[in-house]
Amino acid sequence: MRIEYITTPIYYVNDVPHIGHAYTTVAADVLSRYHRLRGCDTFFLTGTDEHGRKVEQAAVSAGVRPIELADGVVERFMQLWAALDIRYDDFIRTTEKRHGIAVAELVGRVYEAGDIYLGQYEDWYCVPCETFLTESQLVDGKCPDCGRPTEKLKEASYFFNLPKYEQPLLKYIDEHPDFIMPKSRRNEVVSFIEGGLKPLSISRTAFKWGIPMPMDPAHVVYVWMDALTNYLTGIGWPQDEGRFNRYWPHVTHLIGKDILRFHAVYWPAFLMAAGMEPPLRIFAHGWWTNKGEKMSKSRGNFVDPLPLIERYGSDALRFFLFREVTFGLDGDFSETALVKRINNELADNFGNLLQRVLKMIGRYRQGRIPEPTGNLLEAMAICRKSVLERVHNAMTDLALHKALYHTGVFISETNGLVESSAPWKLAKDPAADGKLDDVLYELAERLRFITVLMAPFTPAACSRAWAQLGIKEPMEERDIGKPIEHGTVIGKPEILFKKFD
Ligand code: MSP
Repeated sequence: MRIEYITTPIYYVNDVPHIGHAYTTVAADVLSRYHRLRGCDTFFLTGTDEHGRKVEQAAVSAGVRPIELADGVVERFMQLWAALDIRYDDFIRTTEKRHGIAVAELVGRVYEAGDIYLGQYEDWYCVPCETFLTESQLVDGKCPDCGRPTEKLKEASYFFNLPKYEQPLLKYIDEHPDFIMPKSRRNEVVSFIEGGLKPLSISRTAFKWGIPMPMDPAHVVYVWMDALTNYLTGIGWPQDEGRFNRYWPHVTHLIGKDILRFHAVYWPAFLMAAGMEPPLRIFAHGWWTNKGEKMSKSRGNFVDPLPLIERYGSDALRFFLFREVTFGLDGDFSETALVKRINNELADNFGNLLQRVLKMIGRYRQGRIPEPTGNLLEAMAICRKSVLERVHNAMTDLALHKALYHTGVFISETNGLVESSAPWKLAKDPAADGKLDDVLYELAERLRFITVLMAPFTPAACSRAWAQLGIKEPMEERDIGKPIEHGTVIGKPEILFKKFD
């Protein structure tokens, strides 16, 4: 059985969820649902990244303990995932005990291997903010937060011997053409590595909110080594070897382009150092802007998914995110574009088709799916196979937009079939009885198939469509290629997608 382990980044808890977070998580949900439908052993992990100075400081300002702050934000993420119909298998929080154990184990192994050593971390420091800053973070040499002068300061820190992995990383990338996707991102990573890697500071003593370094508890593990390890913790490492070995390294890490370097360089290097296999695939998607502007805290222009879900429904938003923009490129969010997609593609093309066909089956065949001729079944199997191939290739390439495009074309063709076969004319001609059976069967079977292809993107509407088609067997338990049974009694046709002004 094929194994698919799918992850999202774990989200920082010093921010509330917005459309950018929703994007990666819905993508992971779409992929997981697709793989489950085709019978793969699928595991979908998401969660939150809760340690670090920012969370510690935010908690101090709010007058709560860091964990209380995290609990509140986690609640909001979980609410959003429920509203978006996200079906994850596990939600990992980096403050959980199981994660502390995993991080200590990974750090310990890399230390044993000799790739972690104690050194001096030197950078700009803002004394009032108690914050280390990199050169690029400074504004005219001053602290970007309080505007006061900064000074060069040294802190003891453990380092990871990243330069040692330059060649192994380049070799791994070269030998695994699908490791970094889309392909266009690969060169970016290769030239970063070829530009020379520096030792990576992986611990801090300036704040306490983190996982202690196992060999020196005066230090806490600095963010990325802590955060990335969640992908191991989530599948039971190091305690549940069986579960871990089942899913690792068959993983697809879905991330935004801003965190590609951490995933495609640091992460495989940590794993190599610990004697483990690097992940199979990393896919970096683009960024959403809001009416052409970058979304940021200072602009206060983050698109909040919740009101959109309330107004248009979660299916509509899920569909829009992958229909509007090439997955992998940047895109611009606009409500007008969302409404257009709902009206033209979900309501008119898909929803309307279902209603029309079900009503005709009601009217001309008393609500029972008629029996087709053998030749039709054969022809349909061939047609289904070619559509499925296109959709499947798109899904395995993570070209989610293409999967929707091909499905959309098939829906349009099916609408064309309604027009060209004109069942309302056939119904008036007693000699065309067999032909009408065939046409209605073909339309019903096409709709069954369309419903399955759309289900990963618009799950709620598709489970209603499934019920309206009268199919009793749950979609998840049924082979994608198994045609609808004749004699099936259809349900009551109801509007699938509402239209908006
Ligand atoms: N905690 C780290 C990830 C650790 S993974 C081991 C982190 N968290 S984050 O909350 O800041 O961001 C998570 C994801 O949201 C990133 O993949 C980022 O690309 C994505 N997005 C944030 N803003 C976005 C847009 N405006 N558009 C699309 N995605 C964006 O980074």
